[in-house]
Amino acid sequence: MKLLWVLAALVVSCWRADASTGPQIIVDPPEVSNQTSATLTCNLTDSLLSKGSFWTHNGKVIENSKSSKNAFYAEHSLEKITYQQSGHYECVFETEPQVKRTIEVKTLPHIGANKHSEHGNELDKGVLTCVAHGYPLPTDWVWVKEEEGSQKRISNGTVERYEIKNTPNKTTLTIDELNMDTDGGYYICSGINELGTTSDKIQLRVRSRLAALWPFLGIVAEVIILVTIIFIYEKRRKPDEVNDDDDSGAAPLKSNSTSNHKDKNVRQRNSN
Ligand SMILES: *[C@@H]1O[C@H](CO)[C@@H](O)[C@H](O)[C@H]1NC(C)=O
Ligand SMILES: *[C@@H]1O[C@H](CO)[C@@H](O)[C@H](O)[C@H]1NC(C)=O
Ligand SMILES: *[C@@H]1O[C@H](CO)[C@@H](O)[C@H](O)[C@H]1NC(C)=O
Ligand SMILES: *[C@@H]1O[C@H](CO)[C@@H](O)[C@H](O)[C@H]1NC(C)=O
Repeated sequence: MKLLWVLAALVVSCWRADASTGPQIIVDPPEVSNQTSATLTCNLTDSLLSKGSFWTHNGKVIENSKSSKNAFYAEHSLEKITYQQSGHYECVFETEPQVKRTIEVKTLPHIGANKHSEHGNELDKGVLTCVAHGYPLPTDWVWVKEEEGSQKRISNGTVERYEIKNTPNKTTLTIDELNMDTDGGYYICSGINELGTTSDKIQLRVRSRLAALWPFLGIVAEVIILVTIIFIYEKRRKPDEVNDDDDSGAAPLKSNSTSNHKDKNVRQRNSN
């Protein structure tokens, strides 16, 4: 009869160890939301055989978080919480099998423009991109354009040339056929999660198509100037070459002039 009790207890404890990966750990706080610092704690309530504990952040073991001092209690301090510290924290107890619990640390999203200054050519496509980091990622994105102090909301098709594409970690505003008069300026992308909104700003500059041609026209102008200089130089060099051999050059000139005289004489005779 005694043996039966022992067996039953064993079975029960085995079943409990199996079924309770999770509920056996009491976490405090259960969640960290919008805080600048926090201390995460886990308390292993069942005295399973534990060799110690460690913490993970987004699946990666946190350096120096291993502890074997108190096998049933683990804590991890976050002194300054930014979006980089947000995410899933797990305390892991090295029991057989391991037991663990998750504590979520939530912050405002971190929003950053790919480039704070974009350039586009008139009639080309303009693409503005913002990316999000942190946990939780935005559930919503909003684009606005600053116009003379006020902000104009941009949505898909407000103007037919606008297209917005969103994923949790990225938003892209594409503007078709950039217009020099209306499209230049500041655009603001905002990512929104359950804690609030974060924004970033992008300046878009639209150049005329002619401006895009300037580098090419510059090269053409350079070539023309170069050719002109060479041409003029060659022209001015020619007389010098003639002067180089003075003797042979002078003789034909004289003979030319004498022949001219002869011609005159002939003509004079003819007129007589
Ligand atoms: C862990 O839980 C036990 C039992 O619930 C409690 O007595 C103990 O104070 C807790 N330890 C900590 C550090 O919270
Ligand atoms: C905007 O429209 C495009 C194409 O119609 C679509 O792929 C995209 O998901 C839309 N974006 C939003 C934010 O609704
Ligand atoms: C955004 O998420 C996708 C899939 O979830 C991932 O492949 C990509 O690397 C992420 N991009 C950034 C910038 O984090
Ligand atoms: C989180 O904190 C920011 C300021 O740090 C505040 O603007 C926002 O409203 C807070 N969100 C919540 C849900 O308390």
